[in-house]
Amino acid sequence: MIDQTLLPVELKEIECRDTEAVWDAIKMLKVRGAPAIGIAAAYGICVGIRSFFSEGDSEDKGQFFDLLNRTADYLAASRPTAVNLFWALDRMKRIARELKDQKTAAEIAVALLEEARKIHEEDRAMCRKMGEYGASLVHDGDGLLTHCNAGGLATAEYGTALSVFFISAEQGKKIKVYADETRPLLQGARLTAWELHQAGIDTTLICDSMAAQVMKEGKIQAVFVGADRIAANGDTANKIGTYSAAVCAKAHGIPFYVVAPYSTFDLKLENGSGIPIEQRDPEEVRRGFGRQTAPDGVKIYNPAFDITPAELIRGIITERGIISPVNRENIEKFLG
Ligand code: MRU
Repeated sequence: MIDQTLLPVELKEIECRDTEAVWDAIKMLKVRGAPAIGIAAAYGICVGIRSFFSEGDSEDKGQFFDLLNRTADYLAASRPTAVNLFWALDRMKRIARELKDQKTAAEIAVALLEEARKIHEEDRAMCRKMGEYGASLVHDGDGLLTHCNAGGLATAEYGTALSVFFISAEQGKKIKVYADETRPLLQGARLTAWELHQAGIDTTLICDSMAAQVMKEGKIQAVFVGADRIAANGDTANKIGTYSAAVCAKAHGIPFYVVAPYSTFDLKLENGSGIPIEQRDPEEVRRGFGRQTAPDGVKIYNPAFDITPAELIRGIITERGIISPVNRENIEKFLG
């Protein structure tokens, strides 16, 4: 995988040869973005179970399932918010369970690799679909704001929110994208600006705190963001600062859209209050990228995500269509 922590300065691929390396890649944001975390975890299962064939008694299916479950539990503890991680791990475990009585451990391992590839391929196709639905909301000449990185780096290919921009550009629409830099880890500056600029899309980077002013100046016609987990009522967890962007959009009468595949919905949760919010190391704020910018000893609060209430979201763009208005009934209708 690409080590995203090195971008935009260095484009380097790393190899994850054991479960610990996959866990570390997810935890340290070498791979990040909800769908990409799910894909990495699915392949992580395949990496994790390899040791069974080199070390154990390869006929002992009990031991195989034991290792599989331990690998899944371990990977599940890497990051708490993006539900795609748990969704992918559950899907892998389900496949293995279904084959338990008919196949050998080696055959189940092959099926698991196929399933990981399927998850990867499905995501690619879903990104395109979401982009097409989202682009139907974009007009020639629009200024569009996004937050964090919901592009190719965060998914299998086109991205979720950025797919809307890529497809709009393919359709010949002249768009101007404003990318929030996304404090504290700068996914917008380092990754979104990098992706969009490379694709030749007119891109302007702004600090997160500038969004309201840019909206007031009439430069933004719509906001598109990704999601890490969407509750049954449409409340949406995404990168910290998304909620502020939604409040600003509301204040300026600008439509705010979330773009996410079905794997990002968590219908077991009634609303956003049940979504676990990852708390990250205060040093990411105190010494972002190596330079100290806050006094030693001062308290720092560093939640990585926030929850945007459903009522601030004009529509959720999925690979199955656009859910609007955003409410429990419509979400159920789309996702079953
Ligand atoms: O902490 P990160 O970089 O993994 O956070 C990512 C986001 O918040 C993205 O907007 C979200 O995962 C959607 S990616 C298509």
